[in-house]
Parts: sequence; structure tokens; C-alpha cells
Amino acid sequence: SRPGDHVIVLFGATGDLAKRKLLPGLFHLATAGLLPQRYRIVGTARSRGLSDAGFKQLAHAAVEEFGSTKPTGETWRAFEDALSFATTDHSDPSALVAAVQAAEKEIGGHPQRLFHLAIPPTGFGSTIEMLAASGLAEGARVIIEKPFGTDLASAKALNDTVHRVFDESRIFRIDHFLGKESVDNILAFRFANGLYEPVWNREHIEYMQIDVPETLTIEGRADFYEGTGAFRDMVVTHLLQVLGFVAMEPPTSLSATALRDEKQKVFDSLLPLDPKHVLRGQYDGYRTEPGVAPDSQTETFVALRANVENWRWAGVPFFLRTGKALRAGRQVVTIGFREPVLRMFSVDGCSTPSARRNEIVIDFADPGWISTRFLAKQPGPEMLLGEAEMTFRYADSSGAANALEAYERLILNAMQGDQSLFTTAAGVERLWEISAPLLEHQPPIEPYLPGSWGPSTVGQVTAPYRWHLPEDC
Ligand code: BG6
Repeated sequence: SRPGDHVIVLFGATGDLAKRKLLPGLFHLATAGLLPQRYRIVGTARSRGLSDAGFKQLAHAAVEEFGSTKPTGETWRAFEDALSFATTDHSDPSALVAAVQAAEKEIGGHPQRLFHLAIPPTGFGSTIEMLAASGLAEGARVIIEKPFGTDLASAKALNDTVHRVFDESRIFRIDHFLGKESVDNILAFRFANGLYEPVWNREHIEYMQIDVPETLTIEGRADFYEGTGAFRDMVVTHLLQVLGFVAMEPPTSLSATALRDEKQKVFDSLLPLDPKHVLRGQYDGYRTEPGVAPDSQTETFVALRANVENWRWAGVPFFLRTGKALRAGRQVVTIGFREPVLRMFSVDGCSTPSARRNEIVIDFADPGWISTRFLAKQPGPEMLLGEAEMTFRYADSSGAANALEAYERLILNAMQGDQSLFTTAAGVERLWEISAPLLEHQPPIEPYLPGSWGPSTVGQVTAPYRWHLPEDC
């Protein structure tokens, strides 16, 4: 349903995220009739003063290049009318205050203020303080981008700063993986079906994998990436959140509190990461990318084994992998089931004697698919088995046209005040806490070739199991 009237203030309005995702996403929400009846979007940035007209032009170009709907017609004109721009000056926020007040006056009534901090993490604290000092924070909600801190101490300090100004119910820490249709569908798949949940435990499942290889390199983001690395950029942020959904107990309801409480229990049960089970890699050529130190120790690849020590999962390894410049760009959860107690069949396939285990594969790269892999008799006079699969593809489902991109979904939810798909203070702190042993004792970097699946030792992380990817043998 449509949220109530809003003034959205977009910090970092001239930045990459705003251009690629946020402005096109807001416009798509407008075309889908999901923006409020009355709204204004005030763009703001520190370094680049733009006029209102300049910002409208920038938004037009961004939607043209990255949007799913073209910026034309009546909807575009209405959207464009709602845009204005103010330069942020932390020592004198009067221009921003004036722009927000003007937007509120145009709308009339009491629109909700929503600040979206699409800025580098180093700017979060000072921006929040400016919002408090200028009075803008009053009654407002705030969306904060990632990464939220770089370790436990910095995440706590940032939470303290934010909590001095906003209470938790008004804070929306974004992890855009949680806004992906097929990540959200993990909840439906598990808890709306009688078929899977009864076997979703250590009795039947032998391993879990969350694998997010990327073909992209760092795409000129050395400034951000050198101090961040694959572990902070992807694992603490996205992959462990997905793990939370895969591993959680059935929540008592779909309320934000119930869902987030169950996710927190998973995080509380995660054992601190053991550096012995972590492989860090760096692709050949990374050190010569512009802005990267010639002796950089930043990892562009990480593969690790995590353990959730609770009644459901004790002893089941969770393998996580992600990296830049790898062979394929995929986002895949694989659930590996135990083999039957007796092996009666011979299998014609990749790895003998039993080929792959039964696996449920959830591909969550939008639009995503889910597949069940099993063994079936091959046609012919012999009892020979081969691998078979049944697949559901999101793109084939009747509502596919209604799909929202992750950011769109999350901005909509923030406007609706629904925190279900946002992370909590306790959650991010716990994830930094279990990361501490690794951050303190980083295993040495191993090189890998661009276009490979990581360092040559990547198979050791999962042994005696194999990575689901690549899918061929
Ligand atoms: C971002 C990371 O949060 O997620 C990037 O900073 C990564 O390094 C990206 O490429 C992947 O997200 P998506 O939306 O492309 O699946």
C-alpha cells in the first residue's frame, strides 16, 4: 500500500549509488504507484553545488541510463516537479533546512521526514550530528547505508552516535541483499510449505553453502575497497544476513520484531570465526589498479567455514565464499542433504560413486530461481542413474512484472515504517563480535588468477565436500 506523505532527503544525491539505484528506484516506485500521494525529494551533497534544474537533469540522466522505466510522460514530469537540491554544509546547514521546510510547506500537513544517508561510512556520524543540531532530525526516520562500522568498537561507537539522536524504531540500516525478492522468498519457501521445513535441520542436511562470486573487479572503487576488503564488504554485511534467513527458527509471526528476534538468535549461536578456516585471496593485477597500494594486503576474495551451534545446526558447516574477478557472477545458496544409508545404485555422472548429494539450490541473483537436484534412473535397460533437477524460475511466475528491485523494496518499507528487512544494532554488533578473531589474526593473502574460482586451495575450505559452483564436474 502507498505510504503516507513524505519528504525524502537524499544525502549523496550526486553519488554513484544515487545514480545507479536510488533515483531510478524512486522513479520506478512512482511509476508503480507506490510513492506517497504527496512527496518531495530533496537531493543534497557536500562537494557539488547544483541548482534544482541541475539536479533534475542529473536524475533524468540517471533514470535514462539505469532505470527500468524511461523518464518520459506525465509520471516523469510529476516526479521531476518533486525534486529539489540543496548543498550540505555541516557548519551551516541553513540551505538544507530551508529546502526541507520549503518542501514540507509545498506538501502541507505533516509529512514524514526520511533521510537516506547514501554517503561513505566516514560521513555517517557527522551527518547525524548535523541533523540533530539543525533540528532536522526531529520526528524523522533515517536510512543508513553499509558498511555499518569496520569492527565491533566502531560499530558500537556509531550505534551510540545514532542512538543519541534517533531511537531504534526510526533507524533503517540497509543491507540490500535482504530486499532481494528471492532472499525474502527463502522465508516463504521454508515456512509456507510443509515439504521442506521438516528436513531443514542437522538430521538431514550435511552442509550449507552461500556462494557469491563476482566477475566485477573493484571498478575504480579503490578508495573504498582498499580499507574494506571482501570480508567487510560482503561477508559481514550481506552473506551473514542471508545465513540468518537460511538458518533461523520459524518466527512466531512475520512481524519485524519476531523475524529480527529469530535472526538474532542465529547470530548469537554463530561461533566466533576461526582464522584456520578462512582463506583470503587477492586477484593478480589488483595491486596495479589505480589507488591500490603496491603491497596491498586487502583481500578481494574470502572463503570460510562458519558454524551455528544450536540444536538445529550443531555440526553442520556453513561455507561462505565471495570474491571479485572470479569466473562467474552468481548468488547462490546450496543446501546439501545427507546420502541415504545404503548405496544400491551405480551412478553415471560426474563424481562417483554418488555424484552430487541431493541439493536444493536457491539462486538469488534477481530474478532468481530455486532448483532441487536429485538422482533419477536414466532411460534404458540398465539401472543406471543420472542427475536430474526440478526448477522454479521467478521470471516465469505470473507476478514477475511486479517485482521490485532490492533498493526499491527497502525504501518503500522504510517509508511504511516496516523494519523487517533491516538490520538491528544488536545484530550488526554481534556479527562484528564473531568476526573479531579473524580481523585480529588475518591469514596471509593467497594470489589467484582473474577468471578463476579463487586461490588454488579453495577446495580445502569445503573438504571433504565440494563447492556447488562450478556446476559442471
Ligand atoms: C555491494 C558491494 O554492497 O554489493 C559490492 O559493495 C558488490 O562490492 C555488491 O558488488 C553486490 O550487490 P548486487 O546488488 O550487485 O547483487
